[in-house]
Amino acid sequence: MKIDVYHTPLGLTAGDLTGRAVVVIDVLRATSTIVTALAAGAKAIVPAASSDEVVRLTANLEKNGIVLAGERRLLKIEGFSLGNSPREMTKEAVGGKTMFLATTNGTPALVAAQGGDPVLVAAALNFSAAAERARSLFTERGDLVIICAGRDKQFALEDAYTAGRLIKAVKKGVPPKKLLLNDAAQVSLDLAAQQGGWQDALGASDAARQLGEAGLGDDVKFCANPDRVSIVPVYADRRIAA
Ligand code: MLT
Repeated sequence: MKIDVYHTPLGLTAGDLTGRAVVVIDVLRATSTIVTALAAGAKAIVPAASSDEVVRLTANLEKNGIVLAGERRLLKIEGFSLGNSPREMTKEAVGGKTMFLATTNGTPALVAAQGGDPVLVAAALNFSAAAERARSLFTERGDLVIICAGRDKQFALEDAYTAGRLIKAVKKGVPPKKLLLNDAAQVSLDLAAQQGGWQDALGASDAARQLGEAGLGDDVKFCANPDRVSIVPVYADRRIAA
C-alpha cells in the first residue's frame, strides 16, 4: 500500500495522478478558506490559476450569483470583493454564491491536481472528516497522493506537517511491511511526530510569520483550529463542492 507526498505541485503532470485518490493541502490559507466558504453556504468554489483567469472566467456571468476572491502577496486583489482570509467567508459574503478564487500557491496546486479521482480538499479545520474519507479511499485502493501547495515553489512547513498528520491517520492498522512511503511522505510523518499541536506547528512556519507581518496573524490562529467543520470538499469538473 502506497502513499506519495508532493511538497509542491511542481513537475506534476496529469498522468501522475490518473485514477488516483488525491488530497490537496494549503492550510495557510487557501484550503482553509475553501472549507470555511463551503461551510458558510457557498454553492461552489472555482479555483483559478491566476487572477486574470478569474476575470476571464467571470466576464460573461451574471454578477449576482458569483463572488470574486483571492490574494496577491497575501492581500486582497484589486477589484475583487474578498481576499483569501477564511474569516471573511461568512454566510452574508458567500452564502448561495459560486466563489471564483485565485491565490498564489493554493489554487494553482488544485488546478494541477485535476487528474486525480477524487480530489479532496483538506485543512486543519476539516481534518478528521478529510482523514476519514482519505483513509477509506486508501483502504479500498491501497494508494493515496497528498499534494502540498508549498510556498513560492518551495517546501512549506505547515503543509508538510498537515500531510504528516494525515498519513498517520490514514495508515492506522496497516502493517509497516505493507506500507510504502515516498521520501517526502516519510519526512512529513517524522515532522508531524516532532512538532507539537496545530497552533505551534502552523505558528512556527514562514507563512505564519509573513501573515503576522501583513496584520493577518489572526488567520493563522483561525486556520490552526482542528475540526471546526465536518465537510470534505471534492474538486471535480473545475468546481469544488461540499
Ligand atoms: C497561497 O495560495 O499562496 C496562500 O493561500 C497564501 C495566503 O493567502 O496566505
